[in-house]
Amino acid sequence: MRRGDGPEALSGRTPPAAAAVRARREDGPRGRSSGARVPRFPEVHVDVAPSEEDTVVALLHLGGARGVEVRDASTLVRAHRTDRVTLVAAFEDECAARNAAARLRALGWRGARFGWLLGDAWRDGWREHFRPTRIGARLVVHPPWAPWTAADDDVPVCIDPAQAFGTGTHESTRLVLRELDRRIGGGERVLDVGCGSGILAIAALRLGARGATAIDVDPEALAACRENARRNRVASRLRVCATPLDRLRGRYDTIVANIEARVLLELAAALTERLAPGGALVLSGLLRGQQHEIRASFGALRHVATPVDGDWVALVLAR
Ligand SMILES: C[S@@+](CC[C@H](N)C(=O)[O-])C[C@H]1O[C@@H](n2cnc3c(N)ncnc32)[C@H](O)[C@@H]1O
Repeated sequence: MRRGDGPEALSGRTPPAAAAVRARREDGPRGRSSGARVPRFPEVHVDVAPSEEDTVVALLHLGGARGVEVRDASTLVRAHRTDRVTLVAAFEDECAARNAAARLRALGWRGARFGWLLGDAWRDGWREHFRPTRIGARLVVHPPWAPWTAADDDVPVCIDPAQAFGTGTHESTRLVLRELDRRIGGGERVLDVGCGSGILAIAALRLGARGATAIDVDPEALAACRENARRNRVASRLRVCATPLDRLRGRYDTIVANIEARVLLELAAALTERLAPGGALVLSGLLRGQQHEIRASFGALRHVATPVDGDWVALVLAR
């Protein structure tokens, strides 16, 4: 998943060794500085053909990269060109980064370039873009640092994503929020699979759902979800846990899952199993075109709608 600078911006497709990219995000600024242009991290950027990706990632690691972020047409932060893969390698050491860029150029990747990630914008810049946003007829999502004065029919949802995904600024989240805004009438049991910040489960509860369960594989997401539930005064109706989907019991009237296509395919049987008769399942995180394979793997369910937002689509299915 992806986009500009923000927690969501770093959700690009990353190879296993890209853990260092994530750690970089969590480390916070090194030292104290208010300088927006202070060099923070040495980086190497290089555009490669898709078939060269594995080779160049390996070369970057051999050269000392602590992590390599992979950007292509399917990631939230896109490659520079649609037919190329952009690799962004993070280094701790300037000399190693300069050498790695030079070595790649010598091997034929002439565009490989050394640079510095500047200032603290990587950490906080996304906040400027997270403003109160109306989504659907009732929901208004806003961050704690931009309070919202609700009009009569507004349903405000206050979200600080911390290190998790889910501000409502991304198309894949907005697609689900619109469906919740339209479909939650009151009293539903809701399951949010891959809750991230908790935005979807919390929005459903604020719209009147009776209770919700939110699960995620990321402990930081679970922590953010719990905190946001308290912030929105719905914690008593929200169960937040790391229980795998196939270990959950019970059936749900509304299930939302904004996760990438590959994971949705893996979870197809378990998601179908948990949907109550008459219930709605909203799948998101799909790029245009991916919905066909996903739809086929949920064959036991009826197709209701395929809402689109930019390059992203969701699938609404029903039992
Ligand atoms: C794109 S975020 C969605 C966050 C939020 N629900 C939203 O719509 O903005 C996907 C989340 O799914 C989680 N995830 C990935 N695989 C999962 C799995 N198999 N089971 C549960 N959660 C998973 C990730 O940790 C991440 O927090």
